[in-house]
Amino acid sequence: MKGIILAGGTGSRLDPLTRVTNKHLLPVYDKPMIYYPIQTLVEAGVTEIMIVSGKDHAGDFLTLLRSGSDWGAQFSYGVQEGAGGIAEALGLCQDFADNDKIIVMLGDNILEDSIKAAVKDFEKQAKGAKIFLKTVNNPQSFGIAQVAGQSITSIEEKPKQPKTNLAVIGVYMYDNQVWQVIKKLKPSGRGELEITDVNNFYVKQGTMTFEKLEGWWGDGGESFDSLLEAANLVSKMAKG
Ligand code: G1P
Repeated sequence: MKGIILAGGTGSRLDPLTRVTNKHLLPVYDKPMIYYPIQTLVEAGVTEIMIVSGKDHAGDFLTLLRSGSDWGAQFSYGVQEGAGGIAEALGLCQDFADNDKIIVMLGDNILEDSIKAAVKDFEKQAKGAKIFLKTVNNPQSFGIAQVAGQSITSIEEKPKQPKTNLAVIGVYMYDNQVWQVIKKLKPSGRGELEITDVNNFYVKQGTMTFEKLEGWWGDGGESFDSLLEAANLVSKMAKG
């Protein structure tokens, strides 16, 4: 399985921290934010990783991360010229994926749990996609899933009146149907190609599986408080 880390966007929710750099390069305790998703993927056995960032700071990622040899990995780089959303950035990775299954991580998502077992399960899954859900207190800020038994029945992007508090975290596994799905997407109200629309294709197809995360999850880019919380959690872990 190939790995993809999406690290574009303007980081407007963290202005002015993001005026002169990319959100995913900001410190989270003792490391730049993007180190955490890299660690998560490498620990899960995914070592061929494409990193997509925006046009203004792409060179900084190369300077920081280089070939990937620090992690025993091989990094490729992509540049998203506009701000067309997560699914647009993902669409740049089709040649890299070369028809393999993919695991996509948003570069600001920090996980306590290993996802190794889930990656193994998805390698065996005949078709479709797999996502992770986590209970949150602020469901208006995320993609929110409705679940019936073992299946997801719908996902709503940042609903004003959330029907559950089960957030879809920024780690997604897809089969190679994803490239056709992205090509058919239409921009949402905020002018972006939404990853939630990609996920809902699989939900409707009945091929979306999910796991609930047990450990803590931080979306470091969501707000100043989430950035601080992520740093505190990471520092606690680092100190055992
Ligand atoms: C994105 C997705 C959202 C998901 C979140 C997880 O939101 O659109 O569905 O729950 O990542 O971090 P963003 O934080 O990019 O607005």
